[in-house]
Amino acid sequence: MKALILAGGAGTRLRPITHTRAKQLVPVANTPILFYGIEAMVEAGIKELGVIVGDTRDEVIAALGDGSQFGATITYIPQDEPLGLAHCVLIARDFLGDDDFVMYLGDNLLEQDLAAFVDAFEAARLTTAPPSAQILLKQVPDPHRFGIATLDADGHVEHLVEKPDDPPSDLALVGVYLFDPSIHEAVAAIEPSGRGELEITDAIQWLIDAGHRVRTEVLTGWWIDTGKLTPLLEANRLILERIDSDIAGAVDEASSIDGRVVIAEGAEVVSSTIRGPVAIGAGTRIVDSFIGPFTAIGSGCEVTHSEVEHSVVMDGSRIIDIPRLEDSLIGTDATVSRSRRKPRAVRLMVGDHCQIDVE
Ligand code: DAU
Repeated sequence: MKALILAGGAGTRLRPITHTRAKQLVPVANTPILFYGIEAMVEAGIKELGVIVGDTRDEVIAALGDGSQFGATITYIPQDEPLGLAHCVLIARDFLGDDDFVMYLGDNLLEQDLAAFVDAFEAARLTTAPPSAQILLKQVPDPHRFGIATLDADGHVEHLVEKPDDPPSDLALVGVYLFDPSIHEAVAAIEPSGRGELEITDAIQWLIDAGHRVRTEVLTGWWIDTGKLTPLLEANRLILERIDSDIAGAVDEASSIDGRVVIAEGAEVVSSTIRGPVAIGAGTRIVDSFIGPFTAIGSGCEVTHSEVEHSVVMDGSRIIDIPRLEDSLIGTDATVSRSRRKPRAVRLMVGDHCQIDVE
């Protein structure tokens, strides 16, 4: 079993952050989103990974390297334009060979461990009616944003449709799929959709129409497609919920730490209150500040005379004299400061290297 991880595409919905970086590398609880998927893959015993890379390939390659940090080997597969999820399978043909594989969308985060999902497929493949594909479904409140499945009375998938205006069900396709080599015939047979992409949803529908079995599983744990600000902050919250306290940095006597908090080595907390769950990266200084629940502050940051809650602050950024920063995503090496002393709360999405002066 191999894995095909999709880390190309354009992250229009997290702009300005994704003007300058791969959306799959935006950190959640101070770890890039993509790392969680790769770690889950390796834990499921899949170590031969192909990674689709697009415009942000240099950054993705710099972050993942040859895969040895995860105990895996990585083959990079460049995609010149984001022509669709099925196009990714098409261009990965040489890497995939005739192996079964997991396809994993690099901006998806899910609670369920992948091993059980993979084992179920492998067991079903040994039966007299082996499936050619397995999809994971989850009930969602906003089905028009996803690929949607309708099932028959026995729970077998009947029909799949991509981002329908008038959704026939609320069962969304989660971004983890299992395929046998018949998918290669399917992706070669389909035509681009109305939005100009080769849709994996259409390729799976092609398999169904050609008489292949497609297994479904319904996901019980949480699942987040992190492509927008609100789900990204929600993913940050859910991952921070499960961290264990680890205080390696320095905390002075005038500071207090409540709940589960990670303070990395070389970080310093001075005259401040940290109320977990919170993660603070290496070399960051927190001075005269309050860091509230569900906040991740990256490495090399500075927070002075400020309150930050339910936010992601990326590496190298500075938050100075901000009475309250909440529900915010701050890019790398950005500065958010205030010159006049008028207290108020701010909600921001700030790109890398920006300087914002709140008046
Ligand atoms: O998140 C689940 C949804 O993912 C499914 O319900 C949909 O059926 C499926 O089409 C997909 O929809 P999205 O619109 O969310 O896909 P997105 O364009 O965000 O791409 C998903 C990942 O794949 C993302 O990490 C970027 C990468 N990608 C995307 C395209 C279109 C590529 O590497 N190459 C591509 O050509």
